[in-house]
Parts: sequence; structure tokens; C-alpha cells
Amino acid sequence: MPARQRTAAAPRPKFRAETAEGLTFFHDYAPPTENFRQDAIEGLSATPKTISPKYFYDEIGSQLFDQICETKEYYPTRTEIALLDDISDEIAELAGEETTVVEFGSGSSVKIRRLLESLKDPAHYVALDISKEHLKKSAQKIAHLFPDVSVGAICADFTAEMPLPSTESLKSPNGRRLGFLPGSTIGNFQPKDAEDFLGNAHSLLEPGGAFLIGVDLKKDPDILNDAYNDATGVTAKFNLNLLRRMKRELNADLDPDGFEHLAYYNEKAGRIEMHLKSCGAQDIRIGDRRFSFDDGETIHTENSYKYHVDEFTALAEKAGFKKGRIWTDSNELFSVHFLESHG
Ligand code: TRP
Repeated sequence: MPARQRTAAAPRPKFRAETAEGLTFFHDYAPPTENFRQDAIEGLSATPKTISPKYFYDEIGSQLFDQICETKEYYPTRTEIALLDDISDEIAELAGEETTVVEFGSGSSVKIRRLLESLKDPAHYVALDISKEHLKKSAQKIAHLFPDVSVGAICADFTAEMPLPSTESLKSPNGRRLGFLPGSTIGNFQPKDAEDFLGNAHSLLEPGGAFLIGVDLKKDPDILNDAYNDATGVTAKFNLNLLRRMKRELNADLDPDGFEHLAYYNEKAGRIEMHLKSCGAQDIRIGDRRFSFDDGETIHTENSYKYHVDEFTALAEKAGFKKGRIWTDSNELFSVHFLESHG
């Protein structure tokens, strides 16, 4: 299947080259800064009401997310880490020597460390992330831990089309580019957006690139429902933190205890949906804006799509990738795909 056709070459987005200690380069594409107030007002004005999941991750939210990964019910993190460990020799073999590893999002330092440890003489590591300070810190940490790897960072919205900078330091004629997106983050995109993202990643990883990507699998809905409704209530706290954050940062007039965490597997859509459900009729006020809720009305806060192995392969093929090796754990909870670009 041919790689997707591009008509006119898109203008190359501009970046500011900065320096950061320990890093080969730090490129800032200055992704649009978040506007929580405006986005919250827009989302609450929509039907049905919604808020972008990117606002989950303030400091408290990020800590709660780490706690979710430790809960008994949330199997994806530990299953993926164990699977990556099991298959690390095979990945190293497929990736070859002197790879340039490109990580989309620099959140999961445990996973990237283990990947870099298992690869054969990785040459470069490039971290992409929208959050500048977090990106700088985590890239510097990797640079410190892997003195033989040249580490660069790009502050950008990786869901937007964006070339990898043609820095001299990135020329790695001996090795391939290897994209890395663990954590089933791809499941948080709408399938069409996932396809667009994979298409961009495909061009970014050329020539001869590959993409290592973790994808949560469709399975018994009870297991899925439990994973997003842990008994200790951390996931509920994480979801409800959005409302508390609106109170803290936007001075919103609302009662966080008047809402409930609601997460369920929507079998027809093949996704977990997370919502905040209003217990009773009530209002949220932000400044002079008022948003009325009926009893039981929800704010849709996130989707997490689940894929059969074949469904995900078909999606990746539409984006220009070739089917490569696929691994699942013995309980068939989670999958890791090694997608090959055509080169
Ligand atoms: N991408 C993972 C998932 O969908 C992690 C994640 C994102 C998550 N947002 C979440 C987990 C909210 C629990 C709750 O599972």
C-alpha cells in the first residue's frame, strides 16, 4: 500500500532553538498555551457538555494518575511493562543498532529507560512534549542516565504535523528511527484522529523507520469497567479533580461533591467513557456565565478506545505503516505493535 499522498508541501513550522544543559538541542515550537477558562466555558456550553482531558494533568492530577497506575484494577501499566521486559531482546533485534528513538510525550520514564537499556547502542533520543518545563527536566534526566546517547527535546503538540528538526546531531546514517508511544495513549484519540496522528508519525519516522506502540485490547467488559472504577476511588478523585481545578484556578462557583465519577465501557463504540455526573439539578458559574445541569446530566471528560489486534493493524495500515511483529501478554489484556514504515 502506498504511503499517503501529500499534495503541496506544508510550510515548515518555525521553532526557537534554545540551549539546555546536557541536551544536544532544545527546539521550542511554542505550542499554543492552554486557555483553561475559555476551553471550560466552550466545553460547558456544548451539547453534550465536555471538557478536554488535557486539563486533568495539573500537579495534583499528575500525582493521582501515577496512583491510578498502582491500583489493583488498573492492569495496563503493569501489564505493558512486564510485556516490554519479556520482548526486549526481540525489540532490540528488530530495531537494530544505533537507533534514533523518538518518544511521543515524555511522561513514562520507567518505560523509556528500559527501552534504551535494552536497545543495541542507541545513538539518539528525542523527546517530544507539549509541556516545556516537564520536557526539559525529563530529557535532562535521560541525558544524565545515558551518557552515550545524545539527547534532544522538542516542545510541540505532537498531534499537529511537525517535522523532526534536521539537526546535524540527528543524522544517524547507521540506525533507524524508532517511534515510541506506550500506555495506550493512542486509545485516547478518536479513531480518525489516531489515524491522522499515525500518518504524521509515519512521515516523521521516515526513512526506514518503525513505531513501537502500546495498545489496550478489547476484552471482558467487567475487567474494563473495574479498571476505570477502582475500589479505592483514585480514578474518581482524578476525574473529579477537574472540577476542583476549575474552582481553584477559575474561581468557579460549583460544588465538587455534587458530582459523581462515572466510567463505563460503551461496547458499541468500543471505548471506555469517563464522565462527571450531576447529582441533582444544579448550576456551575464561571465569572458571569452560568451552566445549568439537569439531574443525571454529565460532562464527558475522556474516551479510551480499545482495539482488537486486527482492528489496530488496519488503522496503522491506513496511515501508511506495514504490519510488523505484534505481542500480547498471556492473558490477552494488552498488546505491543512494532509497526514498520515502508522506508
Ligand atoms: N491512556 C491510558 C488509558 O486510557 C491512561 C489514561 C488516560 C487514563 N486517561 C486516563 C487512565 C484516565 C485512567 C483514567 O487507559
